Amino acid sequence: MTFKPLLAQLQEKLNKRLEEGNLRSLKSQSSLIDFCSNDYLGLARDENFQEIVFSELKNLPQPHLGATGSRLISGTHPYMLETEQFLAQLWQAEAALVFNSGYQLNTALLATIPQKGDTILSDQLIHASLREGARLSLAQRFYFKHNDLNYLESKLRKATGNVFVVVETIYSMDGDKAPITEMIQLCKQYNAYLIVDEAHSTGIYGKNGEGWLQANGWHQEIFARIYTFGKGIGGHGACVVGNRTLIDYLINFARAFIYTTALPLHSWVHIRKAFEYIGNNNFLQEKLYQNIRIFKETLQDLPQLKESDTAIQIVRIGGNERTKRFAQKLQEQGFDVRAVLSPTVQQGEEIVRICLHSFNSPTEILNLCESIALLLARLD
Ligand SMILES: Cc1ncc(COP(=O)(O)O)c(C=O)c1O
Repeated sequence: MTFKPLLAQLQEKLNKRLEEGNLRSLKSQSSLIDFCSNDYLGLARDENFQEIVFSELKNLPQPHLGATGSRLISGTHPYMLETEQFLAQLWQAEAALVFNSGYQLNTALLATIPQKGDTILSDQLIHASLREGARLSLAQRFYFKHNDLNYLESKLRKATGNVFVVVETIYSMDGDKAPITEMIQLCKQYNAYLIVDEAHSTGIYGKNGEGWLQANGWHQEIFARIYTFGKGIGGHGACVVGNRTLIDYLINFARAFIYTTALPLHSWVHIRKAFEYIGNNNFLQEKLYQNIRIFKETLQDLPQLKESDTAIQIVRIGGNERTKRFAQKLQEQGFDVRAVLSPTVQQGEEIVRICLHSFNSPTEILNLCESIALLLARLD
């Protein structure tokens, strides 16, 4: 049996990527100053927090390393049900359900809840996992121009069946926020169900890290809220909260929930303890907000800086090669920043994406800003 014909086809596609300057490859974590990870509050590396997680884990009965099965067979430890109750309470929702990752949750939610004859209206910049879920769904799907309420309304007017509007509070590739109040109004007016992904605001806003929706009192207006634990929480997994019927439906019909081994217990302990830890250490959020202010104030005159008041800051460069070179020069100066190239973003819209953290020092941020300004001034 020869695999050559297929491998040749695959290699051809890889070669095309290489030619276009966007071939992906894996590199191990660097020792540069972290301006690229999603560990916004530094919980993944916080030794005090690690101690809390380890000691809680040791005190649990039956602390298996792996979950030993899917949630519906052997994989539900009592601590998991308690944690879901804790999360439902935290988010003032009837029920909560934890998935193994945000990607799995998003694909499951959109593939499972909207039915044939329904309509999914998503912002054009939603995360790949939500797009994938919409693609798997039997409902019809449309995309509206990023944050464009007029465009959304024009789609809402024509939509049929149950209508779902899908947005993120903070957009992962732009760092800007959705106009949630206006979207809630539109969804009320057109009887649509709003689904909001809080991946980049979980842990960051709210006294206990509840996120942007709850910090603004909008949470009860949302049909399904998605929280992920791999970013501000520094761990792994994700959670959807909403009505009890929604959660029961997912437990019964969401294939990505049913047919997979559950998250290991240590991830659950991490999740549970992280929200308590954030509540007891609000200075972590304060330091992050302060670092965002420093970055923005220092670079405020640069036209290449996209408008964002979040931990995700974007420098527009344009062109895969130019953007890669720009990021590489910053890396050579000790800053771990990443280029985001097409096809992840549209051709010509390539960017350098900077993630700010509570643990970045003001000096590190000022030095980064100085380097960005100098490099932009010399950009060909
Ligand atoms: C908006 C958004 N939703 C969902 C995800 C996926 O979450 P996870 O990393 O837990 O799979 C991401 C990750 O980048 C994201 O940015």
